[in-house]
Amino acid sequence: MKMPFTGKQPSCTLLFILTLSVVTLYTTLHRHHHHPHPPSAAVAKNNPNTLSYRNTFLSTASNHTFAAYLRRLTLHPHLAGTPPSLSTALYVQSHFQSLKLTTHLTNFSTLLSYPTHSSLTLLFPNATLLPLPLSEPNTAQNDVVAPYHAYSPSGAAYGAAVFLNYGREEDYRALAAHGVEVKGCVGLVRRGSGMSRHEVASNAAAHGVSAVLMYTEGECKEGVERGTVMKGVGDPLTPGWAGIEGGEKLDLNDPRVTEKFPGVPSLPVSEAVAEGILRSLEGAVLPLEWREGFKSGGSKIRRVGPGPTMLNFTYEGEKKMSTIHNIFAVIKGSKEPDRFVLLGNHRDAWTYGAVDPNSGTAALLDIARRLALLMRLGWTPRRTIILCSWDAEEFGMIGSTEWVEQNLMNLGSKAVAYLNVDCAAQGPGLFVSATPQLDDLLIEVTKKVKDPDLENVNLYEQWTAANKGVKIERLSRVDSDFAPFLHHAGIPSIDLYFGSEFPVYHTAFDSYDWMMNFGDPLFQRHVAVAGIWGLVALHLADDPILPFNYLSYATQLLEYKNVLDALLEGSISLQPIAAAIEEFTMAANETDEEAKKLRADQNRDESSVLRKRMLNDRLMLTERGFIDSEGLPGRQWFKHLIYGPRGDTESKIAFFPGIADAIAQRTNEEDRQATIRHEIWRVARAIQRGAAALRGELS
Ligand SMILES: *[C@@H]1O[C@H](CO)[C@@H](O)[C@H](O)[C@H]1NC(C)=O
Ligand SMILES: *[C@@H]1O[C@H](CO)[C@@H](O)[C@H](O)[C@H]1NC(C)=O
Ligand SMILES: *[C@@H]1O[C@H](CO)[C@@H](O)[C@H](O)[C@H]1NC(C)=O
Ligand SMILES: *[C@@H]1O[C@H](CO)[C@@H](O)[C@H](O)[C@H]1NC(C)=O
Repeated sequence: MKMPFTGKQPSCTLLFILTLSVVTLYTTLHRHHHHPHPPSAAVAKNNPNTLSYRNTFLSTASNHTFAAYLRRLTLHPHLAGTPPSLSTALYVQSHFQSLKLTTHLTNFSTLLSYPTHSSLTLLFPNATLLPLPLSEPNTAQNDVVAPYHAYSPSGAAYGAAVFLNYGREEDYRALAAHGVEVKGCVGLVRRGSGMSRHEVASNAAAHGVSAVLMYTEGECKEGVERGTVMKGVGDPLTPGWAGIEGGEKLDLNDPRVTEKFPGVPSLPVSEAVAEGILRSLEGAVLPLEWREGFKSGGSKIRRVGPGPTMLNFTYEGEKKMSTIHNIFAVIKGSKEPDRFVLLGNHRDAWTYGAVDPNSGTAALLDIARRLALLMRLGWTPRRTIILCSWDAEEFGMIGSTEWVEQNLMNLGSKAVAYLNVDCAAQGPGLFVSATPQLDDLLIEVTKKVKDPDLENVNLYEQWTAANKGVKIERLSRVDSDFAPFLHHAGIPSIDLYFGSEFPVYHTAFDSYDWMMNFGDPLFQRHVAVAGIWGLVALHLADDPILPFNYLSYATQLLEYKNVLDALLEGSISLQPIAAAIEEFTMAANETDEEAKKLRADQNRDESSVLRKRMLNDRLMLTERGFIDSEGLPGRQWFKHLIYGPRGDTESKIAFFPGIADAIAQRTNEEDRQATIRHEIWRVARAIQRGAAALRGELS
């Protein structure tokens, strides 16, 4: 479900940033974030044996197997909850089984949503009716689902067409300033401001728009971008607990359920259809600021309406209980079987899913193949490795969320890290996101993997050349399966992919052919992603001391504090956070020293083994300190106070989400300041909890 990274559709980390000045400040920090300390410190020089297994892992990759897996996975569309989706699940299961890996399925019974009928007609003032195509060319005969928004309410609307730009608050303000009344209109919104579909539709409903059409600009004019309009993640009927068959479910009319769905119906349309509507508009002149950013045809679009053309919109869909299937392959650890390193990718797709998500699935299957090979050569991991194939991610990370909710206790106490790959390959260029204690490991690993597009260059060289330094994004966004692991359970996480432009995102054109022609013609980017993914996992599973470096986290937190300080212009003291960061930094320094000593310690006696285990536990649990049982205001399921989605579309920073929202709050100044102060204290306490977990001492 990951949003493509393009100029139009801003970077995932920037997803929640709106103000240009802060954007500039923030990206600058990231792009030129050179490491203040030698990264090799955290990554063990392992014994020659594990080193040789890692080399074998890399040298046994072949682009041919990736191509074969992807071919098989994309033979037919496999939307979650449908029979072809089950057959894809069984293929993944049989692949794991054929490798003699311990395999199991975990099923959930969850509320999914499918279209039954939709129509859209443009009516000209001269009474001419123009039915607009809602589906993509050549998809009528096959099993591709008609373009729709999952969980959109059914409904009909007849109203003047109006262009709402990105559908942000500032866009409605601009329209109001030009005297445009949007109430009762059918609104057209272009995607790409970083707002979720839910936010776009809810905003429109709040402004009295009666139905919403969304389109995405890109090279693929006939493609239509499907997507979910549900708010939050997980099965809407089981918020906070697992949606097991026969378990407690909320009623469909329960306000806790209905508040997750927008108040007005919506549909996605192609860029071609959107342009037809735009060309028909008269009325107010397109605001100057909106004109920029149109990729094409912008010059032809002069007016925003409303009307004179009318739109007749209908959408009917059904929400229904469906069984979804997560599939796991487990490689039990030999020395610490109760410590888990998780690699996850979703399997369900809106259509054929060649990029999204099955390029990642092909990588997961190939990692399984090579780990099975290592096992035949005598390797077993020190810690348990779990390969996870999620279902129903496209509807809102449902498979992974239900499973995390079901296993919260065991994951909370035993999960070392969660490593996500959704779209493995959609073009050239590596993109890395992670929680900061994993930065060093990622840097080391990219030096070991060949660049897929250049001869004799390793990934690290190409990646840092392209970004003028190390660029690791953070994970406040909520667009793939790391969300429940990080935001709900506080587990250190990574997300990896290749490629910035993805014009066939969620369309019927996301097929094997597109991959062969554009995404990754030689399948070498698949090889590279799987190389990083697998090597990171091997280090996390085998290194006697976990390769976590909390000095990176301390540095990152300090940068956030400074950005926040600039944003608040010193109006509110950040002393509580500054003090907590100081504490955290001290703990990180002490732990770093301790880790260096223990890495050098070759003793195998019991007390040595226990000392290492104690340190590892502290390294593993530090991230959990950032979790707050009360969660973020208005979205309590999100419990991480450093990284998480904004609750207010006008929030300006992509970290400390509670503080970000408090700043954007539009109440009286006194209340606003009080809320900001409270949220500052909460973040400070979260950082203190992290520091205490890292130090491991009682007060
Ligand atoms: C999960 O679903 C699969 C496929 O329908 C079925 O074969 C399996 O028995 C189910 N597992 C459980 C534990 O219900
Ligand atoms: C009505 O107006 C539309 C748009 O201007 C035009 O394409 C169409 O030919 C007109 N139809 C008639 C019957 O005049
Ligand atoms: C709008 O479309 C619906 C469904 O096609 C149709 O029943 C209805 O009469 C149309 N309304 C108008 C005003 O054209
Ligand atoms: C694998 O890579 C080689 C060398 O880059 C290339 O010649 C071959 O066509 C690729 N195979 C596939 C299936 O893409």
